[in-house]
Amino acid sequence: MQCKEREFGRLTDGRSVRLFSFECSDGMQLEITNYGGIITSVRLSDKNGIFDELCCGFPDLSNYLKPHPYFGALVGRYAGRIGGGRLPVGDEVYQLQLHDRHCHLHGVNTGFHTRLWSALLESDDTKAVLKLTYMSPHLEENYPGNLNVTATYTIFDNNRIDLCFEAETDRPTHLNLTNHAYFNLNGFRSSVGDHWLKVDADQVVELNEAMLPTGMLKPVKGSIFDFSELILLSSRLVPQTHELDHCFVLNQSRKDTPAVELFHNETGRSLKVYTDQPGVQVYSGNFLDGSLTGNDSKTYHKHGAICFETQHFADSPNQPSFPSTLLQPGQAFRASTTYLFEVRS
Ligand code: BGC
Repeated sequence: MQCKEREFGRLTDGRSVRLFSFECSDGMQLEITNYGGIITSVRLSDKNGIFDELCCGFPDLSNYLKPHPYFGALVGRYAGRIGGGRLPVGDEVYQLQLHDRHCHLHGVNTGFHTRLWSALLESDDTKAVLKLTYMSPHLEENYPGNLNVTATYTIFDNNRIDLCFEAETDRPTHLNLTNHAYFNLNGFRSSVGDHWLKVDADQVVELNEAMLPTGMLKPVKGSIFDFSELILLSSRLVPQTHELDHCFVLNQSRKDTPAVELFHNETGRSLKVYTDQPGVQVYSGNFLDGSLTGNDSKTYHKHGAICFETQHFADSPNQPSFPSTLLQPGQAFRASTTYLFEVRS
């Protein structure tokens, strides 16, 4: 494992932002910055030896300092929508900033993706460990509790990235963390319609017109959300007619099986995602509109990439039947996800 560190740029207050680069012996090249804990680049050869960028990202820090669609970022304190921005904790209701008239989403423009995290890099022959820490003060974004968060990326030589979140609070609060990376296994030459998808979920979270959970879980069997086998997305008319922006309820019987598998036949590249979280928000880049150009001068078009945001369900603080996102003082928060890239010949 080869690792390098350099300056990515400076914040307006003069603080240096670092960029960490990793090269695995199996060929993956990865870049992560401590600004927002963002994965800025994932590069890998295909079965014919063509080396491509697979992840939406920018070559310059300046693009990340403006609002962007959470490319590669650590999202918090709450990934996903919270209805009316209403956060009930005990007898209090904390009003969060609104993303639109219906909800708070992803910390809006001042969430964890905009924070400079302290970074510590350690590596040995086979792996590298990048430990990012951030102290989110009580009432930051109006969430209660001083919250100490650690996000540890461990990179292995077999093109595997583990992301483990740990956190503790001094007051009851809600917490739901994820990484919001967007992937295209064909190096952005086509939309995600020519990718195959499998999701280990028998149910999906039912949404209302405002894209908020109704509180009900719907069986996927026989519906367009049934990805229990690898399905070519275009054969489900995704993205031509249907868009994915849904939380799949992961089957809990799963042990070492992936929560999600994404495959691209022409390049042979695949991505497997493993997690201990109850859900995964699958989002088919519906709001990408061709206005952003990133690494290797790739332009990010509608449905040009897909996200797998492993997390709790949206609006859990207001949905008593959902698994709880409440974190109590003295309780250790832990959430982990693995991304494994493979190439089939
Ligand atoms: C949400 C989408 C949103 C996207 C980018 C996803 O997690 O579900 O509705 O557009 O993030 O913010």
